[in-house]
Amino acid sequence: MVTRRSVLGGAIGAAGAGLLTTGGLAPLLNAGSAQATEAVTVPAPFTVKMPTLPVLSPYNVLGGQDTYAVTIKEVAREIIPGVQTKVLTYDGHFPGPVLRARSGRRVSIRHRNSLTMPVSVHLHGGSVSPENDGGPMDTFGPGTSRTYTYPNQQPGAALWFHDHAHHMESEHVFRGLSAMYLLSDETERSLPLPAGQYEVPIALRDARFDEAGQLVYQMDDVFGRTTILANGRPSPYFEVAARKYRFRLLNSSNMRFFQLRLSDGGQMIQIGTDGGLLERPFTTDTVGLSPAERADVVIDFSRYPVGTKIVLENTLGPGTPDQVGKVLRFDVVRTAADPSRVPDVLRTLPAMRTATVQRNIVLSMDEDGREEPRGLMDGQEWDYQRIDQTIAHGTSEIWTVTNANKIIPHNFHMHLIQFRVLERNGAPVAPAEAGLKDTVRLFPGETVKLHATFDTYKGTYVYHCHLLDHSAMGMMANFRVR
Ligand code: C2O
Ligand code: CU
Repeated sequence: MVTRRSVLGGAIGAAGAGLLTTGGLAPLLNAGSAQATEAVTVPAPFTVKMPTLPVLSPYNVLGGQDTYAVTIKEVAREIIPGVQTKVLTYDGHFPGPVLRARSGRRVSIRHRNSLTMPVSVHLHGGSVSPENDGGPMDTFGPGTSRTYTYPNQQPGAALWFHDHAHHMESEHVFRGLSAMYLLSDETERSLPLPAGQYEVPIALRDARFDEAGQLVYQMDDVFGRTTILANGRPSPYFEVAARKYRFRLLNSSNMRFFQLRLSDGGQMIQIGTDGGLLERPFTTDTVGLSPAERADVVIDFSRYPVGTKIVLENTLGPGTPDQVGKVLRFDVVRTAADPSRVPDVLRTLPAMRTATVQRNIVLSMDEDGREEPRGLMDGQEWDYQRIDQTIAHGTSEIWTVTNANKIIPHNFHMHLIQFRVLERNGAPVAPAEAGLKDTVRLFPGETVKLHATFDTYKGTYVYHCHLLDHSAMGMMANFRVR
């Protein structure tokens, strides 16, 4: 049997050109930083501006379908001022662009793989057939293309897409292969929420840079990734008007959990989560996001005089507050009219059908300090040929999911469906988890109870820890709906 390390090493070795190895990067690096003799350092917080994410345009909107073409390619982009960093991108964008889709209208994307490695593209949170799911083994190689079709027969949701090629996904996503896919429906569009330039998608993540300002990927590098990026820039500032904004937050980190707050302790209104809007908004001074989770948050800056600067802080490690505590700063620079409003009722969630099957799932990872820790789902590493759970189409089930570790946090993600979180550690869940979810956090020792209905597609899909380094280590399993 091959070990994780040998498979990974083999895969990178097989790349030939060795794009992802230091050797392969060296010539490009030297060209990009010829005049820089000193080590590159990440700039002081709040000295660079946060960009907004570009929106992808379809090249064809005929036949009830929006059709896109995307090239997956390596480019150099400015993350640290004055430095060109090699990144892997969808169409050259770092971080990934935003695709805006509508419920009931199909999207088709042809991805061309211009890398030297196989890739797959998974629409996270999407209800799609197995052949369009972009599963770990369903990859397409260098120089080839693959078309994914998304029916969008689901309510509005904050989806995203990212690489999922087994044993490579964690490095590919770390190097840039993630993008938002914001699906809106009529209910959402009829609400008077902040819109247009006042609805701002923000991808948050961590990263590690070397002295030349290049990304450093090491498997399970929990402590090394201490630079926080918001929309691809290190702890940037963002100029806002003194009015309400809607922020579509995504944690695209491989392994970092964020716990966000405003530096003045000010209130935020959370209106949505992974699977779209909540039934009712709620007011909070903190927003938690484990890797892959999304939060839809309204902040009303009208309570601040023009000239105020408020920091969006992160209160969770690893890393010191100096390193990882300053996510971005909102600078209130002007006034603006604000016709927007957050209604008391946002949507009605579908009623939960009676569950007839119970399953228990246990996530664990070796935490005894061994060289090559294994990631385990129910005591086993992922085997792409093994079906771990067989589900009868049309049933509703309760999954009780536990993190058996004492130190290491995990989370739990299922492809194909949006579930409901019924309980956390035996207690009813907080409002942030009361909506539709596809990823749920699991701090050490925690247990959640999930309600899931499998009434859409049949076929085989994965469930896994979304700390991508962990799933790459084997913390993943298969379910088959039939
Ligand atoms: Cu973001 Cu297997 O998923
Ligand atoms: Cu994990």
